[in-house]
Amino acid sequence: MPLDSRDSETLIQGFTIGTETPEMDAHIIGMTDRAFGPGRYVKTAERLREGSTPYRDMSFVAQKNGRLAGSVRLWPIVVRNGESSETIAFLGPIVVEPEFRSLGLGRQLIRRSLDAAARAGLRAVALVGDAAYFEQLGFARADLTLPGPVDPRRVLIHYLQPGVSLSGEIARAD
Ligand SMILES: CC(C)(COP(=O)(O)OP(=O)(O)OC[C@H]1O[C@@H](n2cnc3c(N)ncnc32)[C@H](O)[C@@H]1OP(=O)(O)O)[C@@H](O)C(=O)NCCC(=O)NCCS
Repeated sequence: MPLDSRDSETLIQGFTIGTETPEMDAHIIGMTDRAFGPGRYVKTAERLREGSTPYRDMSFVAQKNGRLAGSVRLWPIVVRNGESSETIAFLGPIVVEPEFRSLGLGRQLIRRSLDAAARAGLRAVALVGDAAYFEQLGFARADLTLPGPVDPRRVLIHYLQPGVSLSGEIARAD
């Protein structure tokens, strides 16, 4: 399995977490398809990802003995509001293999991606997901619209710098 991750480190016993590489695409997509089923391709969030490439240096995989155990991906998106436009990151999918859940891998993957996005100078990371899970990681309701229908209670944002507030329409970064 060609899962040679860069910047790997061990934070949870037995697992390494590092950035993803293009060679991992098929494995990540396979794991994500198993977790969400084919319905994931009709979701509005997918409109923000299709035809795009994840930020490789902000997208992380967890591995155990060279096997993929989890993945989180960040994608470039833009927030537009009137004349202004800012590139931020869109988080998802976040997936952990069923046998490795509730060990903290999901939280660890997300924290690593948020740190990497902050280091890269991005001011925010947005996502569509369950507030019950993401609020503990610093996400809150966002005043953002997407290119399709979505439950507004699931549109969340995490600011990476103090004093930032973004609102408007989000779209795929072309
Ligand atoms: C969501 C997911 C990535 C979490 O991975 P994980 O490695 O188990 O996460 P953590 O160990 O950091 O946290 C696990 C805790 O979050 C809780 N949790 C998981 N999904 C949750 C959700 N959607 N809403 C609220 N809590 C959730 C679990 O019950 C667990 O609680 P526990 O620690 O009391 O057992 C994993 O459950 C998964 O792959 N699910 C299927 C894909 C998915 O639904 N992803 C999007 C979620 S919005």
